[in-house]
Amino acid sequence: MEPLNVWDYERLAAERLSVGAHGYYAGGADDEVTLRDNVEAFRRWRLRPRMLVDVATCTTATTVLGHDVSMPLLVAPVAFQRVAHPDGEVAMALAAKAAGTIMCLSTLSTSTPAEIAATEAPRWFQLYVFRDEGMTRDLIAQARSGGFGALVLTIDAPTRGNRERDVRTAFAIPEDLRIAAFGRGGMTPQQVFDEVSPSLTWHDLERLCSESGLPLLVKGVLTAEDAKLACEHGAHGVVVSNHGGRQLDGVSATIDVLEEVVEAVDGRIEVLVDGGVRRGTDVVKALALGARAVLAGRAPLWGLAVDGEAGARRVLELLRREILSALQLVGCSSPADVTRDRVTRAPAAR
Ligand code: FNR
Ligand code: LAC
Repeated sequence: MEPLNVWDYERLAAERLSVGAHGYYAGGADDEVTLRDNVEAFRRWRLRPRMLVDVATCTTATTVLGHDVSMPLLVAPVAFQRVAHPDGEVAMALAAKAAGTIMCLSTLSTSTPAEIAATEAPRWFQLYVFRDEGMTRDLIAQARSGGFGALVLTIDAPTRGNRERDVRTAFAIPEDLRIAAFGRGGMTPQQVFDEVSPSLTWHDLERLCSESGLPLLVKGVLTAEDAKLACEHGAHGVVVSNHGGRQLDGVSATIDVLEEVVEAVDGRIEVLVDGGVRRGTDVVKALALGARAVLAGRAPLWGLAVDGEAGARRVLELLRREILSALQLVGCSSPADVTRDRVTRAPAAR
């Protein structure tokens, strides 16, 4: 039977992928408490629909940092996509383009920024800052010349989270896959991570903004304190993210800290969120708590693993339809209509 939802794609992807690749994509850090909580936390928020609202002309379209998107859901940066499917990031970019949304290309991509530019998909570039400054400058130059619309600076990875699934399977990037930033493959994710700078601070933000000339979002904010620092240091947006539960285990689910960040930012810049998004109703909950949009990592990745570009496109289209239906049922005609009163915390379990 045709997969009906993200869960179906997740199950099919688990059947298709090797144990090592599946563990890499599905897994999280340590005991995977945060990994699970990202998904479960959405269920602790309940929708408060309003009835008898005319939703005959309902749209999922919105803007993110001034870019038009067909829906408040973007494709999150996910590393090494050719491990999931031979067409990798190029297929994901084509899927995002077909869905009318933005693809965030990971620094640790197995396709070059130029290959993604050639798809003409709306695109942002996720930046890891490396110990080697020349390498970081080169990546920014590639993002600029490739027409990427923004930089997404990932700030939650001064070192790699402890991924025990990868240790058990001895997961490594296959020899024949080129890591665009390095020009070589055959490395373990840990080896790649060892090149990422552990000494990046807020002071580097302004320099990165001016050097790149691109709008910059910081990805990995989990507190009001850091949200304020992001605003003060010139970020154009923040992504509330715990890296899909892959970095520090034991942090809150992102949906639970979104409101704290939104309040601290106080409308100065846009707030996005990622982690655990599997349904259109999750997206509407995030909008109600103040997010401009969400990013989805594993959901489209499972589509890619199952059926390449067509699979990723179908997952994005399923999610767009779910968002549309959730908006209508909650009594909103557009993402901008979703106000704070549309969600409440579920009663505590007894
Ligand atoms: C990621 N994520 C990630 N983030 C980033 O900034 N750079 C990267 O290279 C990667 N790589 C990566 C690989 C894999 C396999 C996963 C699952 C995730 C994190 C990603 O952008 C996003 O924060 C999470 O995936 C969001 O959680 P969900 O949607 O996967 O639940
Ligand atoms: C990960 C890195 C690549 O989460 O961001 O595996």
